[in-house]
Amino acid sequence: MTGLGLNDPVREARLLTRIIETISGGLDLEGILQGIAALITETTETDVCFVYLLDEAGERLVLRGATPPFHRLAGQVGLKMGEGVSGWVAAHGRPAVIVEDKLSDPRYKHIPALGREDLTSLASVPILSKPHRLVGVLNVHTRTRREFTEADVQLLGWMAGLMAGGIENARLHRALAEREAAMERFAERIVLATEAERRRLAGEIHDGISQRVVSLSFHLSAAADAVVIAPEVAAQQIAEAQLLAEAALDETRFAIAGLHPPVLDDLGLAASLESLAGTFPQLTIQAEVQHCELPPHVATAVYRIAQEALQNVAKHAEARSARVRLLAQGEAMLLEVEDDGQGFDPAAHRVRAGQPGPAGYGLPGMRERAELLGGMLEVKSCPGQGTLLRLRFPAVPPEPGAPR
Ligand SMILES: Nc1ncnc2c1ncn2[C@@H]1O[C@H](COP(=O)(O)OP(=O)(O)OP(=O)(O)O)[C@@H](O)[C@H]1O
Ligand SMILES: [Mg+2]
Repeated sequence: MTGLGLNDPVREARLLTRIIETISGGLDLEGILQGIAALITETTETDVCFVYLLDEAGERLVLRGATPPFHRLAGQVGLKMGEGVSGWVAAHGRPAVIVEDKLSDPRYKHIPALGREDLTSLASVPILSKPHRLVGVLNVHTRTRREFTEADVQLLGWMAGLMAGGIENARLHRALAEREAAMERFAERIVLATEAERRRLAGEIHDGISQRVVSLSFHLSAAADAVVIAPEVAAQQIAEAQLLAEAALDETRFAIAGLHPPVLDDLGLAASLESLAGTFPQLTIQAEVQHCELPPHVATAVYRIAQEALQNVAKHAEARSARVRLLAQGEAMLLEVEDDGQGFDPAAHRVRAGQPGPAGYGLPGMRERAELLGGMLEVKSCPGQGTLLRLRFPAVPPEPGAPR
């Protein structure tokens, strides 16, 4: 950064203009980050720039933009908070500089995928949006030794600050677009689901309930004919009619139960989840659920997600035990369904919410419900290691169409 000084107003104005142009050049986050990475290496006369962004759960830094050829690794490299130099910068909210011999710096962690052993010096700054919210970490590296000065670090911090707003806008835009798409898919599915529900109800009424009522009416006519001349026959016909009336009533209840989990109205979400856990006799299911007040449609969605997750455990996991947890975490709620079964590769089933997956509709359907709640569904699993499904959602759902 020898050639650039913040006290050179013409260069400063030119740099500012280029940053603003790059940030406002579109709303595609990856494109913006790649453009910024290139601009930063050029401006700071460094060789490589990496932009890590904090994931939505606020737990991991994920590489989202870099100068070529590292841009291809976007989305594939992740660090926990506190891990490596970037993790340290994120956790402390302070810049870090390593001039040389990075291997002897306790903060350094080699990331094999990046294979950048030939990079000597580095400067790393947090990307902070106002008011002091961590968005990510910006790193620059040089092949030859470079003493990054305080002014260099300040300049990087300044550029990172400018990026923060652009990144947040692009993220909001993406979240909004995803929500809009989810709403559209939802509307479409409501129409299809309503039709399917109508057919199911019609089938149940036609084949079950109305058949029973027809026979019931025959038995009552027979009873009416026999009541004077053969009262014992009439009594038998009435008894038959009574059984049929009870069966019709059971079938009506069954048909209605398919529309809405009635247990939710009776027991509330927490007790419904406990009772759901008891409906899988082949599994030992431990339920730890906090009582909570949620809007009815949120409770229904959470119940359906837990139901499908447990059904998946029962169908696919070959697990001995499972655990269902529902708890409040600040303003968010957390639902977890964990099993000790054979696990699977979630990447193979990673499809868009609402689109049928290679195997079934369960996981995409759960993702779609999660999106509609303004929440996030994570599936952590790998073959041989059990599965953890985690739904994080706001206790008060966003208005339709509002950004998350
Ligand atoms: N807990 C689990 N343990 C092991 N494998 C699982 C688990 N959950 C899901 N899977 C795997 O993921 C696949 C996709 O699940 P998904 O619920 O989308 O479909 P499905 O259960 O096969 O069909 P559907 O839900 O439509 O009846 C499953 O076929 C299974 O291979
Ligand atoms: Mg399923």
